[in-house]
Amino acid sequence: MHENARKTLIAPSVLSANFGALADGVRQAESMGGDLVHLDVMDGSFVPPITFGEKAVRDLRSVTRLPFDVHLMIHRPENHVAEFCAAGADFLTIHFEATTHLHAVLSSIRERGARPGIAFVPSTAVESLIEVLPLVDIVLVMTVSPGFGGQELIPRCLEKVRLLRRMREQTGLGYLIEVDGGINRTTVGAALEAGADVIVAGSALFGAKDPAAEVAFLRSPW
Ligand code: DX5
Ligand code: ZN
Repeated sequence: MHENARKTLIAPSVLSANFGALADGVRQAESMGGDLVHLDVMDGSFVPPITFGEKAVRDLRSVTRLPFDVHLMIHRPENHVAEFCAAGADFLTIHFEATTHLHAVLSSIRERGARPGIAFVPSTAVESLIEVLPLVDIVLVMTVSPGFGGQELIPRCLEKVRLLRRMREQTGLGYLIEVDGGINRTTVGAALEAGADVIVAGSALFGAKDPAAEVAFLRSPW
């Protein structure tokens, strides 16, 4: 595909929805015009909060036809990827910092029929990912320290998006570039300009007066 022909995908993060009615949050992600539902799985160890696990993903699967973009913020993801694939994750993204044997885990995600992704925190350099880029369908650039919604984007992280874009052009690889954290009306232009294909947004969408208008704005702010 031509570099400029990709459509921007919006992935509402239900982390900012009401966990007492998560199915409603997923329905809202669809009705506001999202392309993917971003599900943040946190284990209380890799990041401080605990959110939900594979049973929630499985139970939510029947609520929408939108693909599930599952972001695992958990240590030792190799112990859990089989369950998340079986639960209906379409993209299953693990953290670079969360395990040693990335090659094995990413390959096992693909073998189980999901699309593997790699995420990395603001203090990890893009260069660290070089060996695993051929194994993934999506690269998730954390633009805040993971764990909480509603934080401010770290502008320097957008340089990583630029670099990933250049590396994609040079290598001919096909991974999508996703940004996650602090994306809102003010920051989305810079993220898209840097080359992001997938925009995650939580607090900017849930709680907005008109979430559909926000999705439309994030998709094309110009
Ligand atoms: C944070 C999560 C994000 C979070 C983003 O660690 O990975 O997906 O929901 O929230 P906002 O868009 O509010 O920064
Ligand atoms: Zn996330």
